[in-house]
Amino acid sequence: MAKVKKAYFCRECGFEAPKWLGRCPSCGEWNTFTEEIIAKSSSSSVAVAAAATTTPPQRVSEIERSSHKRLDLHNAEVNRVLGGGLVPGSLVLLGGEPGIGKSTLSLQIALTNHSLKTLYVSGEESAEQIGMRAERLGIGNEECYIYSETSLENILTQMNEYRPDVVVIDSIQTIFTDTVDSSAGSVSQIRECAAALLKYAKTTGTSIFIIGHITKDGTIAGPKILEHIVDVVLQFEGDGNNIYRILRGIKNRFGATFEIGVFEMLDNGLRAVENPSEILLSHYEEPLSGIAVGASVDGIRPYLIEVQALVSNAAYGTPQRNATGYDPRRMGMLLAVLEKRVGMKMFQKDVFLNFAGGFRVADPGLDLAIVSAVISSYYDRPIADGVCCAGEIGLSGEVRPAPRTEQRVSEAARLGFRRIVVSGFLRKGVKMPKGIEVVYINNIGELPRALFCEEF
Ligand code: TYD
Ligand code: MG
Repeated sequence: MAKVKKAYFCRECGFEAPKWLGRCPSCGEWNTFTEEIIAKSSSSSVAVAAAATTTPPQRVSEIERSSHKRLDLHNAEVNRVLGGGLVPGSLVLLGGEPGIGKSTLSLQIALTNHSLKTLYVSGEESAEQIGMRAERLGIGNEECYIYSETSLENILTQMNEYRPDVVVIDSIQTIFTDTVDSSAGSVSQIRECAAALLKYAKTTGTSIFIIGHITKDGTIAGPKILEHIVDVVLQFEGDGNNIYRILRGIKNRFGATFEIGVFEMLDNGLRAVENPSEILLSHYEEPLSGIAVGASVDGIRPYLIEVQALVSNAAYGTPQRNATGYDPRRMGMLLAVLEKRVGMKMFQKDVFLNFAGGFRVADPGLDLAIVSAVISSYYDRPIADGVCCAGEIGLSGEVRPAPRTEQRVSEAARLGFRRIVVSGFLRKGVKMPKGIEVVYINNIGELPRALFCEEF
């Protein structure tokens, strides 16, 4: 009998060690090593199933380019996040917390593409459950096959038989291969299964979506170790209490990674939100203080988003700083700039910050809008109707140009805003779109005047 072979794996990064270690030398995390049995059978059926035909080295000029042959998924948001459609033979990891809608999104993709043969493999739900979900989504498709299975060998056999164009594996944590003895969801299982799927995708030109769970406690190997293997990493995020979901490109070997896709979770599935500004701007009967609108850009798409701030007298000695969906350190920096450069007494104030739709933002071009909301709440004065901002703020209070300001300005003009405040550095040399008054400021001290109109 073959000797049982064991190894220790880091749950965070997948680092393999022959003995248990307290701290992972690769990622530096503590107490993440778990023991796994990795006895491999001599004739690996996975290797047979995904047998490769090797290509000899080629000249760059002789390599066949397949980039122009992207598959249209009939879903504008997903296409854009993928960088203009799905590349044949690519491996796409779709990560996200449980219940966010990964299965719904991938089933919807599988069902809406009548021109592509799709295989939806579920290790989590029975075929009947998926059938019910498909009925709920209200889309029928003769070219979409549902397969409820957890054995990788069986899945590869079926894939070889059906020859689908697109495969969905829901989820990688439930799939196991016989070549590794540890249980499904362990680091070595995930790694082996993903490697076999990668080999299959590259040799047959099939595109594979792999769904991966992220758990907070980290007992199951998260998609972190998968990220190195796959071509594209997409993250599906959103706050469970909100109906909006964002598909974010984290890694993309075939396009830009800053793209986002916005969806709305409805009774009959996910609806693409083509114009995010429509959900990110609220309409009020009368003007309210503490609300500002910022023009932002994610990837190639500009949108306007509402920022809300509440500044109140601090109840305790140490003022509270609370930001939802924003880096608290950046917020601290912006407040310090207001204190030092504008003379506002922020040290006596609690400040709360929030973004419409439960959005998470990191765009420095929203600095001006955030500061505007804080100023408006501090003085309890509403910002003039139809005014928005786009600009970055430096430590000495200077207003710097936000990347792609022209795009932000034209989006604001398109949505009927009458004034936009931008950096004074753009006064020369940049042609601004027509139909909107562009106010240039060099320093944060000039901001109140621009926001509340001249008499301030
Ligand atoms: P699901 O796709 O199962 O999430 P995941 O695969 O990421 O775990 O989606 C789960 C949630 O979505 C569930 O709470 C119900 C909701 N939902 C809708 O609101 N509308 C729908 O049409 C569907 C199919 C699900
Ligand atoms: Mg699911």
